[in-house]
Amino acid sequence: MDNDHQHQLIAEIKDLRKEKNAIILAHYYQPGEIQDIADFVGDSLQLAQKAAATDADVIVFCGVHFMAESAAILSPDKIVLLPEVDAGCPMADMVDAESLREEKAKFPGVKVVCYVNSSAEVKAESDICCTSSNAQKVVESLSDQEILFVPDENLGRYVAAKTNRKISYWPGFCPTHHRLKKEDVLKRRAENPLAEVLVHPECREEVWQEADYVGSTAGIIKYAESSPNKEFFIGTECGILHELQKRCPDKNFYMASDDMQCPNMKKTSLLKVRNALRDLSPQIKVPEDIRQKAIGALERMLMVSK
Ligand code: 13P
Ligand code: SF4
Repeated sequence: MDNDHQHQLIAEIKDLRKEKNAIILAHYYQPGEIQDIADFVGDSLQLAQKAAATDADVIVFCGVHFMAESAAILSPDKIVLLPEVDAGCPMADMVDAESLREEKAKFPGVKVVCYVNSSAEVKAESDICCTSSNAQKVVESLSDQEILFVPDENLGRYVAAKTNRKISYWPGFCPTHHRLKKEDVLKRRAENPLAEVLVHPECREEVWQEADYVGSTAGIIKYAESSPNKEFFIGTECGILHELQKRCPDKNFYMASDDMQCPNMKKTSLLKVRNALRDLSPQIKVPEDIRQKAIGALERMLMVSK
């Protein structure tokens, strides 16, 4: 897209945003030009908190389906738009409500902790949600019951290690983070032993055990900002580099692997955001019966994270 066309789209987005009383929310994994036009950029928890609290009439969610769906659950009176309706999360698709019900039936009394990367139907079957930034706090908020953690096994194992709790895992994973291997990290460390390795807990256990810091996207950014170090290897989706470079222009960030792009997060474009605002479509809606059952798990998570 040439520069004139890009400027024209940005101007139209700004006008439409005002006209429709809309807020544009973007995840750190979104393309740089989308993060730049957003009213708020954040990690999954910050975005859910923002979506629950906004007084805008329209929420344009620049992220993936489960994020927009959570906004629709939390703010049923708002119009929630997902500029690219096919932007899904393969990990969220690794668990469905029927299989979860079958698993719960095998463990009477089990508490289901559900990563927000899941469908509304799965949230409706869960006791409490979590994100990567509050998973430890959420698990610690539960008394001594047995826990079933869905769908991210890597995050579940990380939380179990941090809390010493007995947790059963669902065999789900994020294809983008799961591609990073221990040998990739060791290779980077050999190239630059002074750089710190910062990774997301969606990475394999063998990876987060090798890291200097493990945290959500917002956690990684905060850590990099406050560290006296100048060089970092980053083990999460590559879109985070945009915010890291903006906030820390005097520091150098390198990906821990060149293969960490989430194709779904990259489906949003300025054209799709403009069209979504102009047409108020595609809207994400959750059937009221499912919404009623799912909202408790999200609200309990937000209470724990206050
Ligand atoms: P956070 O936003 O919690 O860092 O999670 C990353 C992610 O994979 C979102 O899809
Ligand atoms: Fe899903 Fe992974 Fe993409 Fe996040 S980065 S949306 S968890 S596939």
